[in-house]
Amino acid sequence: MKAILCREYAPYTQLRVEEVPRPALPARGVRIAVDYSSISFATSLVVSGKYQRKPPLPFVPGTEVVGTVTEIAEGVTACKPGDQVLAILDWGGFAEEACTTEHTVYKLPKGIDATHALHAGVSYGTAYGALAWRGHIARGETLLVLGAAGGVGLAAVEIGVAMGARVIGAASSAAKCAVAREHGAAETIDYSREDLRERAKALSGGRGVDVVFDPVGGDLFDAALRAIAMEGRMLTIGYASGRIPSIAANILLVKDLTVAGFNFGAYVGWSPVDERARFEPQTRAMYERIFAWVLDGTLRPVVSDLFPLERYVEAQDLVLSRKSMGKVLLKLR
Ligand SMILES: NC(=O)c1ccc[n+]([C@@H]2O[C@H](COP(=O)([O-])OP(=O)(O)OC[C@H]3O[C@@H](n4cnc5c(N)ncnc54)[C@H](OP(=O)(O)O)[C@@H]3O)[C@@H](O)[C@H]2O)c1
Repeated sequence: MKAILCREYAPYTQLRVEEVPRPALPARGVRIAVDYSSISFATSLVVSGKYQRKPPLPFVPGTEVVGTVTEIAEGVTACKPGDQVLAILDWGGFAEEACTTEHTVYKLPKGIDATHALHAGVSYGTAYGALAWRGHIARGETLLVLGAAGGVGLAAVEIGVAMGARVIGAASSAAKCAVAREHGAAETIDYSREDLRERAKALSGGRGVDVVFDPVGGDLFDAALRAIAMEGRMLTIGYASGRIPSIAANILLVKDLTVAGFNFGAYVGWSPVDERARFEPQTRAMYERIFAWVLDGTLRPVVSDLFPLERYVEAQDLVLSRKSMGKVLLKLR
């Protein structure tokens, strides 16, 4: 089959399409003919060996796909051949065929657009899990989302609104702020020209925001931490800025703040099979809710661009250029 193969940890610009053997079907496994696979900021880190987890070489990158089930292992009950599914993978998504265990394969409801369902995968899953399970966000609370027009950022804007929060979307341009507003942000902050800390405080009546969702890190994390209200929560999601921030503990003490990490991979693909099985009821219930919200228009996933597999490098360039809004996808068929 055709796939992108990572033979050594190296810059993503070296990756090319190759003919590789089909993946083996694991126990409790599902084989999927891939229609779409998504690209994220993290893909570039994984292939260069700079991510928190390194797949064994050689490997096919790509951690989420939408496609049609073509084969199931004995005992699989989550889906059957012919079903359209979303699957979260360890790796192996940039290929014509992908395999994973049934614990992270989610049958698509009738009528859902396949590209929207794919965006609903890691981006909306991360936003939902962080806000609900770690941020315990409540109706009426103020949520500040950084990188609010990016893949997970825009998802957090919409999920925050769906959960009843008043959302402030913060991003690096007027165009990105406009996208955050179109997707439900009540207010926006353009941090390329406005002071994030001062504006966030002003937009929350001087008391500060209740929850921050931060996939960017760096200086923006530092500023946002200082714009949180008493007993507020900081959700640290990623470091797209390139700098992992450090925290002076006294800042937490003075305002009774909680900083919570969230690693979606620990609940789905990038975890031992037993752990995936343990979290399966929780993740399955979450995707039922997310798919229902996509179908009724509460969530409106944005596909920024579609590329054929052969143009993966170009697609990854676009993600890293900071120009994409929403999700960049590869179309396999
Ligand atoms: N914890 C988890 O489970 C989890 C799950 C998914 C993703 N993540 C992480 O979340 C982060 C964002 O992922 P994503 O898929 O949403 O990526 P994305 O679509 O590329 O969005 C990242 C955003 O970060 C901002 N940014 C600031 N400085 C940047 C820089 N130097 N280069 C690129 N972007 C920069 C950009 O917004 P502005 O231009 O508006 O600043 C951009 O929209 C990544 O670090 C990823 O690893 C974590």
